[in-house]
Amino acid sequence: MERIDKIISTSLNISRNDARNLIKSGRTEVNGVVVKDVKQKFDTETSSVICDGQVVTYNKYVYIVMNKPKGVISASSGHGDKTVIDILPADMKRKNLFPAGRLDKDTTGFMLITDDGDFAHRILSPKNHIPKTYIAELDKPFDSEVVSAFEKGITLKNDTCMPASIKALDDNHLVAEVVIKQGMYHQIKRMFLKFGITVLELKRIKMGALMLDSSLMPGECRYLDADEIKQIEYGK
Ligand code: URA
Repeated sequence: MERIDKIISTSLNISRNDARNLIKSGRTEVNGVVVKDVKQKFDTETSSVICDGQVVTYNKYVYIVMNKPKGVISASSGHGDKTVIDILPADMKRKNLFPAGRLDKDTTGFMLITDDGDFAHRILSPKNHIPKTYIAELDKPFDSEVVSAFEKGITLKNDTCMPASIKALDDNHLVAEVVIKQGMYHQIKRMFLKFGITVLELKRIKMGALMLDSSLMPGECRYLDADEIKQIEYGK
């Protein structure tokens, strides 16, 4: 059950105050009846809400995939830097959106943006072992020593990383696909640096079983549907 002013403000992306004024002026109908009491609660699953003659679709939470461009930080406020929230299209912006997980400023690719804190927590918790897949371009080739060390779990400072997988995407072993299940600070760059290898470019291409769309240009984004959200959380 949700209050009608919350339903209207969330669905129409307007302030709670504007929603209340709109409701009080009699422009909202629920199940065919005009509602003017802003506190009245309705079952959002079963109620049909109409505002100014248009059906209102209520999504309690939204899930957005962005192809994060370089130079933008994955935070909600940037203190001078542009954030992934700043560059969302105006019609996708709404209160409480935040990036679920961190990518470095120079890392590109799959950035999940949501306002569902529980979901974000579940997919980021190392306990849930959700794989995150990256393509790393390297300044030097990696060899079988690197592969087995990644698979065993590399120690960075005092933390031992969970086993990670790595495979070459080219004959020279300069482009690697790396899968990690946690998100430690600069994790992939630091794992390679242990072997004197610098990551030149890093792009996240997949979370869980959901691939970043090849059609999304840097900075572009789109909503995910319920099935895609499950692919992130349960697809391994
Ligand atoms: N590992 C890194 O080093 N950087 C990222 O942005 C993500 C994973």
